[in-house]
Formats: sequence, C-alpha cells, structure tokens
Amino acid sequence: MAKTASTKGDRRVTDETENGVGGTGSDLVATQPPTEPPLSDAAKSRLAAIVQVARHYGAEIDPAELNLVPGSNGPSDADMVAWAKAAGLAADARKVAWRFLLKNQMEPIILLLTDGSAALLSGVRQDENLVFLRDPRSGSGELPTPVDELRLRQIWQGQIILVRPSLGHAPEDQPFDFRWIFNLVMIDRTLVRDISIASIGIAIIGTLPALMVMMVLDKVMEQGDVNTLIFIGAMFFLLWLLEAVLAYGSQIITAHLGARVDTRVHLHLFTRLLALPLDYFERNPAGQTAHRLQQTWQIRRFVTSTLLGSILNFFTLCVVLPVLYYITPVLTWFTLVAAIATAVIVFSYLRPLRRIFGRVVVAEIQKSTVMVETLHGIRTVKCMVLEPQQRDVWDAKVARASKLRLEGYRLAVWPQVLSLPFQRFAERGTLLVGALMAVQDPTSITIGQLVAVLLLGGRLSEPMMNLARVMQDMEELRAAIMMISWTIDNPVEVTSRMRGLTPNFVGAITFDHLSFTYPGSKSRALDDLCAEIPAGTMMGLVGRSGSGKSTVARLLQGISRGYEGYLKVDGIDLREIQLGHLRRSFGVVLQDNFLFRGSIRDNILASRPGYTFKDVIRAASLAGAQEFIERLPKGYETIIEEGSANLSGGQRQRIAIARALITDPRLLILDEATSALDPESEALVNANLKLIGEGRTMVIVSHRLASLLDCHLTMVLERGRLLDLAPHSVLLERCATYRTLWHQQNRHLAPASAQQGPASLGPVLAN
Ligand SMILES: Nc1ncnc2c1ncn2[C@@H]1O[C@H](COP(=O)(O)OP(=O)(O)OP(=O)(O)O)[C@@H](O)[C@H]1O
Ligand SMILES: [Mg+2]
Repeated sequence: MAKTASTKGDRRVTDETENGVGGTGSDLVATQPPTEPPLSDAAKSRLAAIVQVARHYGAEIDPAELNLVPGSNGPSDADMVAWAKAAGLAADARKVAWRFLLKNQMEPIILLLTDGSAALLSGVRQDENLVFLRDPRSGSGELPTPVDELRLRQIWQGQIILVRPSLGHAPEDQPFDFRWIFNLVMIDRTLVRDISIASIGIAIIGTLPALMVMMVLDKVMEQGDVNTLIFIGAMFFLLWLLEAVLAYGSQIITAHLGARVDTRVHLHLFTRLLALPLDYFERNPAGQTAHRLQQTWQIRRFVTSTLLGSILNFFTLCVVLPVLYYITPVLTWFTLVAAIATAVIVFSYLRPLRRIFGRVVVAEIQKSTVMVETLHGIRTVKCMVLEPQQRDVWDAKVARASKLRLEGYRLAVWPQVLSLPFQRFAERGTLLVGALMAVQDPTSITIGQLVAVLLLGGRLSEPMMNLARVMQDMEELRAAIMMISWTIDNPVEVTSRMRGLTPNFVGAITFDHLSFTYPGSKSRALDDLCAEIPAGTMMGLVGRSGSGKSTVARLLQGISRGYEGYLKVDGIDLREIQLGHLRRSFGVVLQDNFLFRGSIRDNILASRPGYTFKDVIRAASLAGAQEFIERLPKGYETIIEEGSANLSGGQRQRIAIARALITDPRLLILDEATSALDPESEALVNANLKLIGEGRTMVIVSHRLASLLDCHLTMVLERGRLLDLAPHSVLLERCATYRTLWHQQNRHLAPASAQQGPASLGPVLAN
C-alpha cells in the first residue's frame, strides 16, 4: 500500500509540473514529462530526453500515450525512435564515434549511456576536444557538464539517437501502394542483394549443363576425349551440390524477407487503424475493414513466391541470352522474337485483367459484409426468423463473387494459352531451324551446339511462361493493396493526438456560437449554441430524438472537430487541445459499452499505467458497483465473458461508469448511460450521480427527465438549437417543450411525488 500511495503522490506532483509546462506552451527545457508512469531512473531519463528533443522541433510526445512497463529498463532505443517517428519526426538510432559528436552542428543528440540512462548533447568545443552533456531531467538553470573523450568512453559506447525534423512525408504517411511495399522490401536491401546473388548463381549453374552437353557431344563423342568426360562428370557433381546449397540459401533468405515484410506491414496497418478517427469506423462496417486488412497475406505471398521467382527469371534471361548468342546468333534472334511476342500478348491482357480483378475485390467485400452483419445481428436474425432472407442475400453475393472470379481466371488463361506457341517455338522450333541450318551448311552449327540451343531454349521459355503468371499475381496484389489502402489511406487523427495544449482542466464549458453539420448532411445538427456552464456543474441535456444531444457529447470528446464557432473548456477551444490529453481528461459512458474479455478488475483498470487496485475499488464504489462485485464468488477477479453475457445490463453499465471514473476525470459525459436499464438498475446508478458529480463537471444526456432532477442545470435542445438552460423548476415554468416532455413522462405522477422520486431512492445505495 505504501507503494500505491507514493505512486499516486508521484502522479500528482508531475500533474502540477504539467500544468506549468502546458500553460506556458513552449518551454523547451521542461524537466518532467506530463504524466509519468512509475519507472526506473534510467528509463525516466531516456523518456525525458526523447520528449525534450521532440519538443525542440515543436512535436509533442505524450508519455501517457506510451505503453511503458513500470519498473522496466525500457524504453529501448527502438521505442524512442518509433515515438519520435509517430510524432512526425525523422529519427534514427546509430552507433557513432567521438568525432561525430565533435562535428555536430548543434543538433540535439541523445546519447544512450551504458547504465541505461540518457544524456543530451548541448554543445561542443572542438579546439579543446570537449563535448557538453546535460541530464535531460535537470532544470534549465543547471550548467552542462564538459566531458572529454576518455571520460565519455567510460559511460558511453557510441549509441546515439538522432532526431531531425522530417523532410516531406514520413514513410508512415505515404499512400499505401506498390511503391510503399517496394520501399518496405528495400529496408532489407541486403537480403534482396543476397537473394539476387544466389539467383545469379543458380541461373549460371542452370546454364552450364547445356554447355557441358555440348562439350560431350562435340569433344568427347567426336574426338573420344575421355579426360574431358571425367572432368565434366566431376563438374556435374559439383554443380549439383552448389545448386542445392544456393537454392536452400535463397529459399531461407526469402522466407526471412517475407516474414519481416509481413511483420512490418501488420504493425503499420494496426497503428494506422488505431489512428483513424471514430468517424471512419462509424461509416465503415467492421467486417469490411477486417476483410480489407486481411488481404495482407497477399503481400507476403507475393514477396515470398512471385518476387523470388521473378528475380530468378530475370537473371536466367540475363545469363542464358548472351550464352545463346555466343553459340548461335541467328537462333538467338528467333528466341528473342518469341519472347517479345509473349510479352506483347501478356501486356495486352493487363487492362482487362485489372478491371475484372477490381470487380472481384468489390464483390468479395460485399460478401464479407453480409457475413459480418449477419453475425453481428445474429440475435435479431434468429428472433425474427430472418435466416432464409439472409441466406438468400449471402447466396447471391457468393454467386456473384465466384462468377467474377471465374471470369477473371478464364480471362487470365488466355495470355497463357496464346503465348504458348511462341514459348514452344523458343523451346523446340529452334531445333528445326537449327537442323535446317546444319543440313544446308554443316559448318554453321555442330550437333552439340544444336542440342545446347535446345536445352537453353527450354530454360528461356520458363521465364516467359512465368511472365503471364506474374502479371496475374501482380493484378491480385494490386487489388489487395487497393483494398487495404481504402481503409488505411483515410486521414488519421495522429497530428491532433500529438500536438496541442495539455492544460489541467477545471471543467468550465463554453458554447460560443457553436454550429455543426455532419459531413454529407445538409441540415445543421447543432445550430448556433451559446451557453456558459461553470465548472462543477451537473448538467442535464434533454430534447427530442435527433435534437443534437449526442452530437454535443461527440464534440466534447473531440470525435468530430469540424465545427463552427467555439467549444471551449476553461476558455481553450477544444481544437487546440491535444486529443489524447482531452480524451484522457474526460470520462465517457455510452448507452452500450463494450467490456473486454478479462476480469472485472482489468476492465476497470483498462491497463492504465499508474493506477492500482485501490483506485479500482474507489471507482467501483463511486459507480455503485462495489456491492454487486463483492457478492460475486470471485469478486473483482470474475472473468467477463465475450459480449458480457454473464453480467446484467445494470452491472455492465456500472462497470463502465467505474472504468470512466478511475482516472478521476474533470468532465464526465453520460450519453443515455442508463436508458437501457430497468428502473431499479437505473435508480441505483442515478442515486450515485450526485456523489459521482462531486468535484467534476457532468453532462448527462437522458430521455428520462426524472433522472435529471438532481442536476444543477438542464439544457433543452430542439433541432440543434438551444431552447433553454435552467434548473428543473424554472424550466417547468418557462420552457414549453420541457413542460410537454415532463408531462408526457410523468402524467401518472402527482407533481410532488415525482419531485421526490430520485431523492427517495437515495438510501437504496449507500456508497
Ligand atoms: N453520423 C452521422 N452522420 C450524419 N448525420 C448524423 C449523424 N449522427 C447524427 N446525425 C444527425 O444529426 C442530428 C442530431 O443527432 P444526435 O444523434 O445528436 O441526436 P440525439 O439528440 O442524440 O438523438 P437521440 O435522442 O435519438 O439519441 C440528427 O438529425 C441526426 O440525423
Ligand atoms: Mg443520442
């Protein structure tokens, strides 16, 4: 427990520092990162170093966003580089010599010291052979320490992190296309180089047997030279060994390359996915997104099979053609013509193939959307006996997708079939031409040469045949890339997550001529809202369905930022506030909250660093969940099943409230958090609202006006406009809409008893 207390104490202290830093905006030498998880000293100094260097370039790295393991030695240099990149900077971890530091032109450099901590290079004096280092956690007033090469060597082995403003786009921001994948593959250019070398080897080894056969026929058979035969025998054996080794090596390297590309693509995709704004997920069904992203396997397949094959084919052509030309130029021309004809045929089919595979992609997406929608709404499907309808829709989509795919494959067969004669000609036709040449002029070509040409022609036709297949693979890959890019090339909200102010909120909300129109919609969802909500207010938000209540909640959470006018918290417009900070400072509970599979305790804690079981209990008791959780046989360790099947609606909702409360947010938004609950569960939650509202601003959206009687103020919206803002009793007198709603809901109640309703439920839940 002592540890807990100190942890919390730590957090408070740094919160104060944060206020100082955030308030002044651009203090470069802030000593502490905003919210600091409990870390070792070394880790803290690395963290402070990267935060400060990023700030030097005007980028924010928020330690609370980083997934740091308390007590670990981390962050690793790779972590630091990744964070800087995520903040829009270019960063690089390297090993450098003393000279590099001396030549430094006042760029901030982070030196990673052997004890795991970090130092900042703050200056150099070349004439005296000195560098000046600063502890990233020391204040700006502290003088940097001069260090010479000898002393530095004792604590530093050359590891640095170099951070620079990014030039143009970071690779993360580039559109996801062929070039992106090419760049990704090229990160491992040494592997590609090795694969190429092995392929050249294999191509040469594949060519040699033809030459040896030629020698056997021309030298051994003609001249009876047995020694040459023995030599050739030995060569065959050697080549066979060498080929096995090279083939094995190139396969292994390719597998490595494939795995690495795969990993990178997956990491990138998920990062991008998480950075997409909520809007995106509201507009696109989850199934569609999942299906699109699953197409990544095609990239892996392409890299491991098609790419390897193409490199080998390319080098085979490069090796075989000159050899062929050396043996007989005339026949080489024949072969070349055949190869060019094949290429022309294949390329002429490219466009139609692309078109059809594009349609296949769309059909596949539609198919998977039906599947996911059905699974998602299976309860409705079952209850309303919609199985036959769903099956019909599914059948139709499956039929369409298979039809298009079949069409695609049928079309893809054509270039292969049409180019076959040319390949066969390269393979065998040359034999006929060669024989003809030999008959007409026996000196022009020997038997051995003819056989060699035949063999080499065979090797040439392989790459030609593959060209058609490669093209088809490319089209499928292009379709896959297209699908993935539809998802991840949407604008992300990263910039706003990383940049902006991080004030300490008190919780006063100002609506200043606030208007909002949903993209694609013609009418305004919010229309010129003006109001002042003092900090600590418990505010109800009512209005008919579609009046804009949830829209207010969305804007407050920073989900939609394209509003007109101003929406301010403590006088700062929300658009200027760092999104991550904003969302961390606000708690939100919706009507239907998703609980993750795992224990109740983990769900409330939600892996937030710096919070302990004690905080969980505090939040749970505030949310009115303590009592029922303790009655469960396993208490806080009870595992919540998928879809929270083992919890009642009221219990789930109270856990969601506890989860929102654990960070002790200054602003709590409840959007119909109790609407789906039975009256008793609703009463339980409502009874605690007053207690929950202590010391924070609350915005409670509710259809049931009776649950808002405790609110200091209630805002009444009508078609996006503010009708009134006043306490219940005043509204009842002067706001006609409110009065109508109230009487609709409480017709059966005498006004007096209705007023007492929630208050009388108070004792039901002693906290
Ligand atoms: N994602 C969206 N895209 C386009 N228009 C939207 C979107 N969400 C809401 N709207 C429109 O904005 C207006 C306000 O919607 P909002 O969800 O804020 O209403 P509400 O008061 O929360 O309604 P309810 O009580 O039914 O939840 C409505 O006219 C609605 O049609
Ligand atoms: Mg709503």
